[in-house]
Amino acid sequence: MAIERVKLVLIGVGNIGRRFLGILACKEETLRDRFGLELVLVGAADTSGAALAAEGLDPLQVIQLKREGQGVAAYPLFGKAGMGAVELIQQAQADVLLEASPTNLRDGQPGLGCMEEALRRGMHVVTSNKGPLVLAYSRLVELAVEKGVRLAFSGAVAGGLPTVNIGRRDLVGSDILRLEGILNLTTNYILTQMAERGKSYAEALAEAQAQGHAEANPSLDVEGWDAANKLVILAQSVLGQAASLEDVEVEGITGIGSEELKQAKASGKVIKLVAKAEREDSGYRLSVQPTWLDLSHPLARLTAHQMGIVYHTDINGTIAATIVEEDPLPTAAAMLRDLINIYSQ
Ligand SMILES: NC(=O)c1ccc[n+]([C@@H]2O[C@H](COP(=O)([O-])OP(=O)(O)OC[C@H]3O[C@@H](n4cnc5c(N)ncnc54)[C@H](OP(=O)(O)O)[C@@H]3O)[C@@H](O)[C@H]2O)c1
Repeated sequence: MAIERVKLVLIGVGNIGRRFLGILACKEETLRDRFGLELVLVGAADTSGAALAAEGLDPLQVIQLKREGQGVAAYPLFGKAGMGAVELIQQAQADVLLEASPTNLRDGQPGLGCMEEALRRGMHVVTSNKGPLVLAYSRLVELAVEKGVRLAFSGAVAGGLPTVNIGRRDLVGSDILRLEGILNLTTNYILTQMAERGKSYAEALAEAQAQGHAEANPSLDVEGWDAANKLVILAQSVLGQAASLEDVEVEGITGIGSEELKQAKASGKVIKLVAKAEREDSGYRLSVQPTWLDLSHPLARLTAHQMGIVYHTDINGTIAATIVEEDPLPTAAAMLRDLINIYSQ
């Protein structure tokens, strides 16, 4: 098999970026033998600056630097203190941008600028970052189409759960009548630990943060905005409906106390934060709300580390998928899945 050398630039070497690098190292042989791919990390950026090496950086050495509390700018010989992410993309001459910087819903930066720069330069983009997709989905898609490259984001909507892939690939040809999802792990973790383990809200939130699931700003999770972001991305990419956060009716879980959770349990129900898109005459009505679910509902039995989605369709039946994501590894793996799909189609 001929081997294709694919040059990668990674922006953001945090929970996801680091795990992606670990996967890159341990899947090297599989990628070569099964897919004929040699993935070479030519650049990486974090808040310290960048590291850039045309012959390739060692992913494990980058991980080691981060473990030691250093930035990528400290990478021996190839570190570039203060080099910005966009400048790295301009200089790296890479084939793919992997974008895993923090979600920013004010202006999408730094991810949005990086993604635009990469697409303009004819690079494929793989991202786990919701901000740029929520704020500029159609602009980014148009740019990708114009340049004949791919914009892939299967890890941006509920981590490793293939919410986008099922909707776009497997339900092609059907009308989606309703979509329901538990798309935010932190809130599902908190509600489940409160209901089943008698944990306090603060204890459960601290645990979710310690596990690397919670957004840097937890109000995004607990006030429902993270789930709303994901719903907006699904609305645009799967349901074909132009949508923004203003179109989503949002209520988080901060008002849910242990009394209400007990009441739900006593009546044979469970409270989950459900993101929903329901088809109406004028389009889909979008909402994120704490919802009392019957135990027979496919999302009702989700445990603390699970997320799930249910698609109700006209001709493809009702499809439910769930994931156990105890660690964000599957999100990083979704970025690899996107990369492989780009190069095998
Ligand atoms: N964690 C999850 O479970 C999960 C799941 C799905 C999607 N996501 C999304 O994936 C993305 C990454 O998440 P994460 O948990 O890995 O975040 P994180 O741990 O906070 O890491 C963010 C990384 O971005 C770097 N960064 C920040 N500003 C930068 C800038 N201006 N230029 C270059 N690098 C910059 C940080 O640098 P330093 O290391 O120097 O601070 C850090 O390495 C986010 O958009 C998040 O919403 C996360």
